[in-house]
Amino acid sequence: MLKLKPMTEAEYAAYCDAALASYAESHVKGGRWTKEEAIEQAWAEHQQILPQGLQTPHHYLYTLFSDVHACNVGILWFADMTGTQNETAFVYDIEIKPEHRRHGFARMAFLEMEKQVKAIGLKYISLHVFAHNHGAVHLYEKLGYQPTNIRMRKALV
Ligand SMILES: CC(C)(COP(=O)(O)OP(=O)(O)OC[C@H]1O[C@@H](n2cnc3c(N)ncnc32)[C@H](O)[C@@H]1OP(=O)(O)O)[C@@H](O)C(=O)NCCC(=O)NCCS
Repeated sequence: MLKLKPMTEAEYAAYCDAALASYAESHVKGGRWTKEEAIEQAWAEHQQILPQGLQTPHHYLYTLFSDVHACNVGILWFADMTGTQNETAFVYDIEIKPEHRRHGFARMAFLEMEKQVKAIGLKYISLHVFAHNHGAVHLYEKLGYQPTNIRMRKALV
């Protein structure tokens, strides 16, 4: 019903454009970068993580294809982190297009990913999620993910 298809170069280019713009914007809002420098900084960080783009070893980038809808419904990107975290895969990104949300696609994608991660020989999947992203937190909790560390902040008045 849902297929994980390796991302094509054209899909990767479109994904980078959208994801980096959104990443840059969130860091401008958070006060980390100025508007002028944000895209360049976002690209620099991205280049460090994926220096060879889709060919970067240990990284798996997929387009999620729904057989039923006969179209792409989102993306999933994870990596084998064995060098830094033992036997662990890390989810860099999951995004379902707004019009296809709440149809179980993220859940299906994660269950497919679990099979692949096991096949690679890893034992854990970890990820980062912002506490305010309630939908994603709910999704991960339902899939059996548990918090491993919690950062807290208080706004001083
Ligand atoms: C988070 C996201 C990937 C979920 O994708 P999705 O395909 O809509 O999720 P699913 O349909 O597989 O949801 C499975 C379960 O997760 C929970 N869930 C998912 N989205 C939810 C939401 N917005 N609010 C509350 N619960 C939610 C529900 O329990 C849901 O089961 P239900 O629909 O039977 O109640 C999607 O909303 C998205 O792309 N958001 C923007 C990108 C993003 O935030 N990515 C996560 C970064 S950490």
